[in-house]
Amino acid sequence: MQIFLIGFMGVGKSTVGQVLAERRNIPFVDSDEWIERQTGKKVSDIFAQDGEAHFRELEKAFVIALGNNPAVVSCGGGLPCHNDLMSGLKTRGHVVYLEASLQELVRRLERGIETRPLLAGLSGEELCNMIAERLDRRKHVYEQADFCIHTDGKTVEQIVEELLSHIGH
Ligand code: S3P
Repeated sequence: MQIFLIGFMGVGKSTVGQVLAERRNIPFVDSDEWIERQTGKKVSDIFAQDGEAHFRELEKAFVIALGNNPAVVSCGGGLPCHNDLMSGLKTRGHVVYLEASLQELVRRLERGIETRPLLAGLSGEELCNMIAERLDRRKHVYEQADFCIHTDGKTVEQIVEELLSHIGH
């Protein structure tokens, strides 16, 4: 069984994924971490040196390399939105959209922009607009997930419980 967590940067896919993997007793895999290990480069350096298109190819290679091994997979925010990877994820397992309000995403991302090349150098209104525009473009893909969990105001444990109530404990 593979469980894919998708959603915008900063929504908590990795945090939720690690707890979920422990609960299900299957490995946790993070696409960004896999790419960094494979290439020996930080995601931000890949964007800066090789470009976004190359990074998207690496995400595709990640999905192929996963095979059918059981795992909870935290997918980079743009992964399902490129190279038609969403349909590939859906044929392999459960795809779960972790959703947060724009306000909440801005609040969380204000603290982590240095590790996120798409948001580098942005703050205040510019950051908010960038998130809103990108989210708007991606939403229709995220919404193809098997189900969506609203995360605003919920603890990690509550999110994991809600998720398990959909897919079984
Ligand atoms: C990206 C999200 C990031 C990372 C890269 C691009 C995106 O992952 O893959 O910076 O396009 O939304 P997280 O969603 O884990 O932050």
